[in-house]
Amino acid sequence: MTAPSLLYFRDVAVQYGDRIVLEQVSLAVEQGAFVSVVGPSGAGKSTFLRLILGQEAPSRGVIHLEGEPLAAEPDRHRGVVFQRYSVFPHLSALDNVVFGLDCAGAPLTGRLRGPRRAAAAEEATALLARVGLSHALDLYPAQLSGGMQQRLAIAQALIMKPRILLLDEPFGALDPGVRKDMHGLITELWREHGLTIVMVTHDLKEAFTLGTRVLAFDKPRHFDDGGRAYGSTIVYDFPLDKGAPPVDPATLATLKDRLDPDQA
Ligand SMILES: Nc1ncnc2c1ncn2[C@@H]1O[C@H](COP(=O)(O)OP(=O)(O)O)[C@@H](O)[C@H]1O
Ligand SMILES: [Mg+2]
Repeated sequence: MTAPSLLYFRDVAVQYGDRIVLEQVSLAVEQGAFVSVVGPSGAGKSTFLRLILGQEAPSRGVIHLEGEPLAAEPDRHRGVVFQRYSVFPHLSALDNVVFGLDCAGAPLTGRLRGPRRAAAAEEATALLARVGLSHALDLYPAQLSGGMQQRLAIAQALIMKPRILLLDEPFGALDPGVRKDMHGLITELWREHGLTIVMVTHDLKEAFTLGTRVLAFDKPRHFDDGGRAYGSTIVYDFPLDKGAPPVDPATLATLKDRLDPDQA
C-alpha cells in the first residue's frame, strides 16, 4: 500500500447562500511539494487556503490531511502567512515567535516558565537569525520594514513545525528587490525543513519560478450569468518537477490573459 497523500481534496465545493465560490475541486498533494496557486481575483484562492487551514468547512466534498479527515479547527500542523498583518503588533519580534510555543506548551496561562521558556526563546532566536532578523529581536512590528515583517511572519509560522505551510500572496506588498530576497529565503527554508508549501500569488513568474506545481483556479464556464451561478475550479494543473513535460506556451498565454491585467 502506498502512503496517503499529504493533502487530498475530493469534489470539494464552497457555497455562500446561492453563490457558489468553488466547485468540483479534487486534487492530491504529495509531501514536499511546493504548490503555487494562481487565478483571477475572486477565483476563490484564499477560500481554498482557508479550507486547508480549517478556518472554513466545505459545503460538500471531502478533505483529508495525512489520510485523516481534516480537523475543523486550525492547529499547529498548518502554518499560515498572509500578505499583511499576520504578526501581533503589541509583541516584540522575539515574543511574536515564542508566542506559538507559549500557547502550545502552556495552554492555560499562555506563557511558559523557567527552563522551558528559556528553551523556547533560544529556539525562536535561532529561527529569527535564520530568517535574517538577529538584530531585530526586541523591535515591534511597526518598527520593521514590510520585508522584515514577512520574515517575522514566516518565522512565526515555522516555529510550530507545520506539516504544511500556507502562504497567501506573502510577497505581494513588497518591492521587487526585497521580493527576490524573499524568494531565495523561502526556497531555502522549503528545502532545509522538508516543507510542503501551498502559496497563492498573482505573479505568474513567481508561481512558475518557485513552484514544483502550479494550479490555476478559474470559472470553467462563461455563461452570461454575471458569473454567479458557477464556481471556480482547478482549470490547469502544471507539474514542474524534474522530468515533467514542458508547459505549452499557448496554454500559458491563455492563463496570462485570464489573470486580471491590473494584477499581472
Ligand atoms: N465569507 C464569505 N461570504 C460570502 N462571500 C465570500 C466569503 N468569503 C469569500 N467570499 C467570496 O468568494 C469569492 C472568492 O473569494 P476569495 O477566495 O477571497 O478569492 P481570491 O483569493 O481568489 O481573490 C469572492 O467573490 C468573495 O467575495
Ligand atoms: Mg485572495
